[in-house]
Amino acid sequence: MELFIDTAEIDEIKSLNITGLIDGVTTNPSLIAKSGRNIIETIEEICNEVSGPVSAEVTATDFETMIKEGRKLSAIAQNVAIKVPLTFDGLRACKVFSEDGIMVNVTLCFNSAQAILAAKAGASFISPFIGRLDDIGSDGINLISEITEIYDIHGFETKVLAASIRSVQDIIDSAKFGADVATIPPKFLKAMYNHPLTDKGLADFLADWKKTGQSIL
Ligand code: G3P
Repeated sequence: MELFIDTAEIDEIKSLNITGLIDGVTTNPSLIAKSGRNIIETIEEICNEVSGPVSAEVTATDFETMIKEGRKLSAIAQNVAIKVPLTFDGLRACKVFSEDGIMVNVTLCFNSAQAILAAKAGASFISPFIGRLDDIGSDGINLISEITEIYDIHGFETKVLAASIRSVQDIIDSAKFGADVATIPPKFLKAMYNHPLTDKGLADFLADWKKTGQSIL
């Protein structure tokens, strides 16, 4: 399973990228706005830091302008994945970009019918929003399961990118049900490795080791 970091904050990305565990980055207009920085400069910096796919989202809603914006974003670096919304115009733009060999992440996916269209449009990634479905009492993980099942049956190559993650359990469940990628807020990487029994066990090991008076070096 690939792990992407869901943020536009370059310092956060750098601090986690030193682990070697980051396979890509996703941004969206809200994350760019939160960073307070220029989108072009930000995406360029992120692409220089992370070699994997970096999602940069168009902000137009009409096909023609999506194409113009997407081509400008794609020109920033070879690892830019253009993000388009799951709308009629977004699907049209996805088809054009995918036929040009450009990575596309189709975002704001909330049911399997949408995911089928995104795969048919040649999307590199589909982003089902788990948390926002759970927020309204739907079952986000069930959507992951349904999409992966449909994609497997029909041999769609689009990668399922679990997004809108609200907990470590969402990450585990996304992995269990076959998501290819999970894009996680930076705080969840620490939450994934941090466990009190690990900390206690390590402290006990080191306390016992200290009694030996030995040193490995
Ligand atoms: O990548 C999509 C993600 O940023 C949306 O998350 O928490 O705003 O639903 P959220």
